[in-house]
Amino acid sequence: MNPKIRAFCQRLGIAHPIIQAPMGGGGSTPALVAAVSNAGGLGSLACAYLTPQQTAEAIAEVRRRTQKPFGVNLFAGGYEKAGDQGPVPPAMLALMARHHSALGLPPPEPPPPQSDPVPAQMEAVLAARVPVFSFTFGMPAPALLARFKADGTYVMGTATTVEEGRRLVAAGVDAIVAQGSEAGAHRGTFAAPFERAMVGIVALVPALVDAVGELPVIASGGIMDGRGIVAAEALGAVAVAMGTAFLVSDEAGVPDAYKAALTKAPEDRTALTRAFSGRPARGVVNAFMDEVERTAADAIAPFPLQNALTRPMRNAAAKAGDAERLSLWAGQGLRLARRMKAAELVRVLVNESEETRRALSS
Ligand SMILES: Cc1cc2nc3c(=O)[nH]c(=O)nc-3n(C[C@H](O)[C@H](O)[C@H](O)COP(=O)(O)O)c2cc1C
Repeated sequence: MNPKIRAFCQRLGIAHPIIQAPMGGGGSTPALVAAVSNAGGLGSLACAYLTPQQTAEAIAEVRRRTQKPFGVNLFAGGYEKAGDQGPVPPAMLALMARHHSALGLPPPEPPPPQSDPVPAQMEAVLAARVPVFSFTFGMPAPALLARFKADGTYVMGTATTVEEGRRLVAAGVDAIVAQGSEAGAHRGTFAAPFERAMVGIVALVPALVDAVGELPVIASGGIMDGRGIVAAEALGAVAVAMGTAFLVSDEAGVPDAYKAALTKAPEDRTALTRAFSGRPARGVVNAFMDEVERTAADAIAPFPLQNALTRPMRNAAAKAGDAERLSLWAGQGLRLARRMKAAELVRVLVNESEETRRALSS
């Protein structure tokens, strides 16, 4: 381990510089988070779609399962226009009605105006005094970050460009998660047009490392095995945050149809879409995504309205095992996904990293 990586692991109290990335929507269950933390990595609970009460319960459940450090993640933005997003376009309601009918659901109701859940969620996470807090989609106010830090919580913000990294440093974060364009699910972009902030980690990580000085940078996006981990180290990252790799593990809380679709799809089957949530996110192309992108891209409601609109369909599809109507969020590394228990994956990753380092130095 190089001194920067060792210092990061020591500060967090973890044995390996491997973070299971937070995965909202049910992926990162308390069981997954605890399994990764117990195996010496850092598990991360995603709470963006949970109420404050559910957040408190999920954190308590992680604590029942592990004594080790873990992270909790929230969205720190994206709701600026919530409550004032106008009606859902009729073309989108008509499209959704067809998908509801296929699943045996009544026609969709236009969702009520969405409110901003973030302030109450932040208070719930603060009250739980968690070891690590991470966020994406923006930046909490520096005064709020100072409250986390005053409690001893280690704070990590997500950047997709160097400019975003600089803003996070100015706000007082302890570390930056560099989310490359390879990454699964929503883009964390908050200070650039989404299309222009599609920077891969080979370009993004060293640029951020150079820009933010001593602050630790964590590489995230498309990393699936020991080769990716060692490559991230070479780029100057102190750790990796892996989502898709852990999403197919036994403890991840997504339907089996999702895990099966992921392990079947090659790297050229993911695309960025706003179809499910109104916000650009990378997932495996399926029938719903394809239809919306081809026929109704102009009728997609903004986040979080589109997300609320498609939720009943996604929930019913999950129950029915219908992968064509689920948001199959996944990164570009999905061909390398391996189904196993999360603790086993951490062990495999540690061994592979050692082998890769040996091979490079021989
Ligand atoms: C299903 C899924 C859900 C995600 N949800 C969140 C989230 O709630 N908060 C967050 O910061 N990142 C979220 N991410 C992004 C991850 O933190 C990370 O950037 C990404 O998984 C890295 O790319 P990879 O999937 O190729 O490893 C999610 C990723 C996936 C695959």
